[in-house]
Amino acid sequence: MKTPVDMNGDRLLLQQVRPAKTIPGLEEDVRQGLLQGRPRSLPPKYFYDARGSELFDRICDTPEYYPTRTEDALLASCAATVIAEVRPRHIVELGSGTSRKTRRLFDACVSEECHSAYAPFDVCHDVLVEAGGSLVNEYDWLTVSALVGDYHAGFEHLPDFAGRSLFVFLGGTIGNFHHHEAVEFLSELRAHMQAEDRLLLGADRVKDPAVLHAAYNDAAGVTAAFNLNLLQVLNRELDADFAADGFYHHACYHPGAQRIEMYLVAKQSQRVRLGRLEEELAFDNGEAVLTEISRKFTPESLQALLTTAGFRMEAHFEAPEGYFSLMLAKPDA
Ligand code: SAH
Ligand code: AVI
Repeated sequence: MKTPVDMNGDRLLLQQVRPAKTIPGLEEDVRQGLLQGRPRSLPPKYFYDARGSELFDRICDTPEYYPTRTEDALLASCAATVIAEVRPRHIVELGSGTSRKTRRLFDACVSEECHSAYAPFDVCHDVLVEAGGSLVNEYDWLTVSALVGDYHAGFEHLPDFAGRSLFVFLGGTIGNFHHHEAVEFLSELRAHMQAEDRLLLGADRVKDPAVLHAAYNDAAGVTAAFNLNLLQVLNRELDADFAADGFYHHACYHPGAQRIEMYLVAKQSQRVRLGRLEEELAFDNGEAVLTEISRKFTPESLQALLTTAGFRMEAHFEAPEGYFSLMLAKPDA
């Protein structure tokens, strides 16, 4: 862990979380996923540079993208129950982004007179700085210890949080993991948790395919811009020369697999130089790169995932029409 940077009196700290295990970096992921892999693919974490985080936040405001407002309303209705039940000293949020919905928990901390400290953990430095600054201004009692790091690299080097922690993983981001990745991630988290800690997990639900399709194909094209921004990340980080208009966004719901698949599709055959890797990529016309999966759950599949990872469900909060789930879970003995 680096020395914390004090950014706002003593209420906003920013620190880097050292990886607890070796995971591939961008160069290795590109070699494996783009150069060697067929079909080609990339992990979704590379979406989230400063621009990608901003675009994700704009997706949340599109009329088609129901998960954010649905989970927000659900949190508003259950936050006081969760805070009253858990009474956490710390709220530790994984993949916190702008922390927009977490405010529902902070509001409940006020009403329940439980002034928890907040530790948002995200791979995007810029979004943490921005969100942390806003939060300490909005909540004059809140201390924010922002953690920059990759949650796939394990949790052993998280700071030691004294007292009870509520770990929070919202947005349905668990759906961006393949099943085995979700099991590994939750099991590692479980191993890090104390018996009295709790997990609040948000997951999107299986529903009408038309609703799902629209959510990932908004009319204003914000999701397309978010997906295509990945090429700018590769251009900048790997000295690549992807043409901005060389690919188009494609997202489709697969009912059998119960998941959205999101791709970047080559508009024509083309060659792309990866300067930093001293490699060249050749794309056929119509060739697709899988950039994200977004799995949708049933109450049963979500509960089975938690059980496999060593959790026991304590409470299940559901949005109207089963649109979204929040499960409160404890580490199984
Ligand atoms: N939880 C927020 C944001 C969801 S977007 C919400 O519900 O709206 C996914 C967030 O996870 C982004 O902020 C992204 O930067 C972060 N993220 C993605 N991969 C990550 C990783 N490997 N480690 C840590 N954070 C990651
Ligand atoms: C962060 N995650 C839960 C989003 C999702 O819905 O899978 C990412 C996203 N991709 C396109 N739109 C939103």
